[in-house]
Amino acid sequence: MIQKVLESIESSKKIYLEQVKDWIRIPSISADPNYKEDVIRSANYVADDLRSSGFDVELITHEGGNPMVYAEWMKAPGKPTALIYGHYDVQPVDPLNEWKSEPFEPIEKNGNLYARGTADDKGQLFTHVKAVEAWLKTTGSLPINVKFIIEGEEESGGDSLYKYVKVAQEKLKCDFCVISDSSQFGPGQPAITYGLKGMAGVEFVLTGPSQDLHSGTFGGAVTNPGNALCKMIAALHDENRKITVPGFYDDVKDLDAWEREAFSKLGFSDKEFFESVGVTGGIGEKGYTPLERKWARPTCDINGITCGYQGVGSKTIIPARASAKVTFRLVPSQDPQKILEALKKYITSLCPEGIKIEFIDEFCAGPALINVDSEYMNAAVEAIKEGFGTKPVFIREGGSIPIVVSFQKYLGVDTLLMGWGQNDDNIHSPNEKFSIDAFYTGIKTSAILLDRCSKLK
Ligand code: BES
Ligand code: ZN
Repeated sequence: MIQKVLESIESSKKIYLEQVKDWIRIPSISADPNYKEDVIRSANYVADDLRSSGFDVELITHEGGNPMVYAEWMKAPGKPTALIYGHYDVQPVDPLNEWKSEPFEPIEKNGNLYARGTADDKGQLFTHVKAVEAWLKTTGSLPINVKFIIEGEEESGGDSLYKYVKVAQEKLKCDFCVISDSSQFGPGQPAITYGLKGMAGVEFVLTGPSQDLHSGTFGGAVTNPGNALCKMIAALHDENRKITVPGFYDDVKDLDAWEREAFSKLGFSDKEFFESVGVTGGIGEKGYTPLERKWARPTCDINGITCGYQGVGSKTIIPARASAKVTFRLVPSQDPQKILEALKKYITSLCPEGIKIEFIDEFCAGPALINVDSEYMNAAVEAIKEGFGTKPVFIREGGSIPIVVSFQKYLGVDTLLMGWGQNDDNIHSPNEKFSIDAFYTGIKTSAILLDRCSKLK
């Protein structure tokens, strides 16, 4: 049976590629309300595709949020049920002038497909959508039961899906989840991710004088919000690059000895890594390697700063306000809510006389660790081995897929994070890409996974 399915995938490759291009052409930027219609079109695109493959599909909308696409095919009684998750929204495209081709006109170059949403996440998610299509088209059925839950608020911190997972536990009930929204370890080395970071994020806004002031007339007497902001940000790390928020490390689970050893055996080259992002080296928490810092240590990053005069030439002012968007990436077992409160308290304590502070756009997501020793995990390992021809390595990632924690908590299941991307796919950056081979191999691997899992019940 699986052989026929794989043959069908092989002969439909080009059609799948054209279809995913059509989906990618829809600029479903969830962070920007101007794209709301496109976001909805993107939801409908994948909903219609699953419907025409034979799935029962519904669009669920929560209080003005972006629709969630729920689809199910439940005609394999006694067999396991997979819940496949992905997101149909994408990141904004700026800075636009750094794109070498149009962000929403996918082009094929050097074996890759270039456009926003190719790797994160339409191209990756589509591998599962096409795998079930191939099964249904070839054999009239699926080897196991399959549900899809596909959201449109992942890239903008929306909470429709969290709320939904809490109330729809029965509907989403499953034996395991599958997500392809992460990366392989490197070219030719597929991976399964067993750890994701969480997040506590906030923007803090400092207000000083009631309007911009002449910096000669008032400087030195009136506190400058820009100076204050820089000092406060600098105080978030100590000289060993430890984060200074009181209590920050209390719940950090240190790396297990087996993990440190396994990481060190992966052949990660610090030099090549730094070169790949155009730098000669980097600083980070003392006592940890770059890979350990990336995957398993909590971090703090400024994502954006706004302050003062940004135009050409100079303008001698004390700006009236300054603000910074800051995110702390968290690891097990840090509690994002607790960290958020602690960091707000700490940042407030750093705020000098003459400045008012306000926090906006707070955001939390939990970190996740997944058991690598389960029968579904074994099936995923086998499927990748067969599909990609190479045994996957187990890795952790610095990125966050917030819903994984809700799947653990409310559905009581683990997620197989089978990412087909590469670290240099430029997700969230200009010139996002996804390997066309990985796209085809991902479809085949997903089809194999369904087959393998049918033998588990
Ligand atoms: N696909 C990424 C997450 C990811 C990136 C996993 C790299 C593994 C490796 C996802 O779409 C994403 O970007 N998530 C956001 C979540 C945030 C907005 C809560 C992230 O990590 O910044
Ligand atoms: Zn993503």
